[in-house]
Amino acid sequence: MGKLFKVAVLPGDGIGPEVMAEALRVLDAVEKRYDVTFERTHANVGGAGIDLEGRALPETTVNICKSSDAILFGSVGGPKWETLPPDEQPERGALLPLRKIFGLYANLRPAIIFPSLTSASSLKEEVIAGGFDILVIRELTGGIYFSQPKGIEGEGRNRVGVDTMRYSVPEIERITHVAFQAARKRGKKVCSIDKANVLSSSVLWREIVINIAKEYPDVELSHMYVDNAAMQLVKWPKQFDVILCENMFGDILSDEAAMLTGSLGMLPSASLAEGTFGMYEPSGGSAPDIAGQGIANPIAQILSAGMMLRYSFGMVEAADAIDQAVAKVLDGGYRTRDIYQEKAGEKLVNTKEIGDAIIANL
Ligand code: NAI
Ligand code: MG
Repeated sequence: MGKLFKVAVLPGDGIGPEVMAEALRVLDAVEKRYDVTFERTHANVGGAGIDLEGRALPETTVNICKSSDAILFGSVGGPKWETLPPDEQPERGALLPLRKIFGLYANLRPAIIFPSLTSASSLKEEVIAGGFDILVIRELTGGIYFSQPKGIEGEGRNRVGVDTMRYSVPEIERITHVAFQAARKRGKKVCSIDKANVLSSSVLWREIVINIAKEYPDVELSHMYVDNAAMQLVKWPKQFDVILCENMFGDILSDEAAMLTGSLGMLPSASLAEGTFGMYEPSGGSAPDIAGQGIANPIAQILSAGMMLRYSFGMVEAADAIDQAVAKVLDGGYRTRDIYQEKAGEKLVNTKEIGDAIIANL
């Protein structure tokens, strides 16, 4: 008997179920080629949770996630639920609680530009020739978004808005280990982002990162102030391998890095807890403008499933095979509408057709 992994499947809203269907077909194909079974349990989340069970993150869904080894998440939200109170809406009512409940402290967002898609980028062709492959690792449960004190104090013109940037040694240590371990399996470089010339939390951040780096002599460490990093990303993205950031810096730089690739529908993400548990989802949203037409790009969802194999299930070979199959299909000219540029050699295909092509190349 081969290995068995339990996967909570949360397709969500809009294009979520359409792109999820393709990711699940890729998992079927992986089962056939490797000695592994993915036991999948579907659960409602987001607008689907609200419509069918009365809330964005139903209790049954949380329990299914708790008894699983990983969560494969589609995307949530849409105009139908935008009039609900913010905390009950699909995104805030489901995504933030999931991060909290499962302690998903490490957010991994690859920004990859495939060589055959470089003209989709907003950067000049010569800057990105040959493509780039950056992995932004963002601390997700600490820093200025969560630390106390926080809030608006006082009355009228005497009011003061307060946020606190606070990081403990263990918080810095665990995210730094994630970055170095990831770098070890890729380009062997970590660039740690901080603002150590101004912020005390950054002074501690840098000190701890330098200490942890001694355990990884095979990985090259550099440091960059966040403002310079924002410039360097647009100037010469190829200099980066793994970028390590605290929560807010990572929020901003990961969006910047994603946009450099020019194709939101292509980028996966992983949010990891202590141990091997993680949640995997596309970087984009539910795309209500194209939902129901079968034309969404499923690559982000498929690559998210690949990240699940890599980071939660230790199936590095199968994960590499998925990445390579996607690259081959793009080299072969297959394009969903969002990445179609009407160039010679391109074939405009729908969600299922590009899924078929990826499976055929596995
Ligand atoms: P969006 O990412 O859904 O769409 C932005 C644009 O990118 C649209 O034109 C869309 O068609 C396109 N796009 C996105 N993913 C695509 C794909 N896989 N294939 C082809 N085209 C794709 O962001 P938007 O429009 O700001 O938000 C729509 C809804 O999604 C909102 O309700 C928002 O709250 C929600 N959302 C959910 C997220 C999540 O579940 N993690 C993240 C971001 C937004
Ligand atoms: Mg953001």
